[in-house]
Amino acid sequence: MRRYRHRVVLGQKDLDLAVKALAARLAPRLVGEVTAIPILGGAMMFAADLLRRLPTSLRLDFLRLQSYGDHTRPQQVPMADWLPQARHVAGKTVLLLDDILDAGRTLQEAKRVLLEDFGAAQVLTTVFLDKPARRQVAMEADDFALRIEEDAFLVGYGLDYRGLYRNLPYIVALELDAQGQPVELEAAAGLDEGSLG
Ligand code: IMP
Ligand code: MG
Repeated sequence: MRRYRHRVVLGQKDLDLAVKALAARLAPRLVGEVTAIPILGGAMMFAADLLRRLPTSLRLDFLRLQSYGDHTRPQQVPMADWLPQARHVAGKTVLLLDDILDAGRTLQEAKRVLLEDFGAAQVLTTVFLDKPARRQVAMEADDFALRIEEDAFLVGYGLDYRGLYRNLPYIVALELDAQGQPVELEAAAGLDEGSLG
């Protein structure tokens, strides 16, 4: 991360330990036919790490909901634009995964779609990060790996800004200006948007 002013909030070791502990808590709750559904694309890194730590045999399918676009605050009600196969959800226990629970609309809508439109037997909601500071709806996750109390805009480990930085192996907070735009590092002006590290 060379383009914007930032500070590291969670390092790789923190992520690993938290995901390991979460897997141990979840394992006993996953019984019967389970389908894991990461919300694309933010939940990919978290899902890959968590699911490989679960002893349960499970199916994997995907759901995509979009709400942020290119901004640092949610712009609209999330809309599903990629759906799982109906037979992977109807009557099944769904382990629904997302990178972060922020305003709450994304997870709430995803859970609603799986229960009401697809007839899931039950939906266990699990997020990597719980960020209660900006919650706008009454939605809590059944479990989460870590909670962050401050209202920061985060990138890395699946979290993006304008589609970038999901592949950072740790999580950083971007410093925002009064308009909510990330502050550029003067020295980095003109660097390629994609340069990481
Ligand atoms: P919400 O709970 O409806 O606000 O939305 C959660 C979704 O917004 C997540 O799936 C993320 O993709 C995105 N999001 C929320 N907070 C952040 C953040 O701090 N950085 C990057 N993306 C975020
Ligand atoms: Mg996102």
